[in-house]
Amino acid sequence: MGFEKLQFNLLNKNEMVDKSKWLYLEALKRRSVRKFSKRNIPLSVLKNLIKTATSAPSGANKQPWHFVIIKSKKLKKKIRIAAEKEEMAFYNRRATKEWKKDLDPFNVTWEKPFLEDASSLIVVFKKIYNLEGKKKSKNYYVSESVGIACGFLILAIHNAGFVCLPHTPSPMGFLEDILERPKNERAFLLIPVGYPAKDTVVPKITKKSFKETCTIK
Ligand SMILES: Cc1cc2nc3c(=O)[nH]c(=O)nc-3n(C[C@H](O)[C@H](O)[C@H](O)COP(=O)(O)O)c2cc1C
Repeated sequence: MGFEKLQFNLLNKNEMVDKSKWLYLEALKRRSVRKFSKRNIPLSVLKNLIKTATSAPSGANKQPWHFVIIKSKKLKKKIRIAAEKEEMAFYNRRATKEWKKDLDPFNVTWEKPFLEDASSLIVVFKKIYNLEGKKKSKNYYVSESVGIACGFLILAIHNAGFVCLPHTPSPMGFLEDILERPKNERAFLLIPVGYPAKDTVVPKITKKSFKETCTIK
C-alpha cells in the first residue's frame, strides 16, 4: 500500500473562522423535507453526491456500504407500497405511546407520497460482512462508518441545492428484497432527494444549545 504526502492547506486565523462559520450557517439551513416537487435532478450531480459520501472515513477503510440510486417510477412506486404497508403496521400496532407522542409535532402518518414524488431515492445499505464470491471477510464499526457516510451525503445534498429526508420505514428488510441486494447487505437509510414542493412547510424545531451538547475541559 505504501504512503504518500498529505495534501494539506494551512489556513490563517481569519480563513478558519470564516470557513467554519460559513459551514455552520449553511448546515443550519438544512431541513428534512417531506413534500417534494416532481422536478428532476441530474444523474451527474447525484453521482457526485454519492462520491462525496464514499470519501468518508471507515473502520480499517473497509467502506462497508453500498448506495442504490432509484430513478425508475415503477421501482419508486413499489417501494412506496411496501414502505406504507410497514408504516401502517408501525402507526397502528408497533409504535409505543411514547414514540407516537414524540412524532406528534411532525404530523407524519403512514402515507409516504414523497417516495414517488421525489426525483430520486437513494437507498443506503450497510455490509455486515464482506462477500466476494463465496469468500466472507470482516468489516469493522459498520454502523458508525455508514452513519458517517450518510452524514457526508446529507450535507452534500444540501450543498448542491437539493433537499432530502433521512427516512427509516421500520423494518426496512423489504428494500433488500425489492432491490435484490446480496445477503451480506442490510438496508440502513432510505433518502428521497429532490426539490421541495412550492408550498413546503417544515416543523418549527430548535436545536439544543452549544452548552447542552458540548463540554470543554
Ligand atoms: C436516522 C434518522 C431516521 C429518521 N427517520 C425518519 C422517518 O422515518 N420519517 C420522517 O419523517 N423523518 C425521519 N427522520 C427525520 C427527523 O425527524 C429529522 O431529522 C428531525 O426531526 C430534525 O429535523 P431536521 O432534519 O429538519 O433538522 C429521521 C432522521 C434520522 C437522522
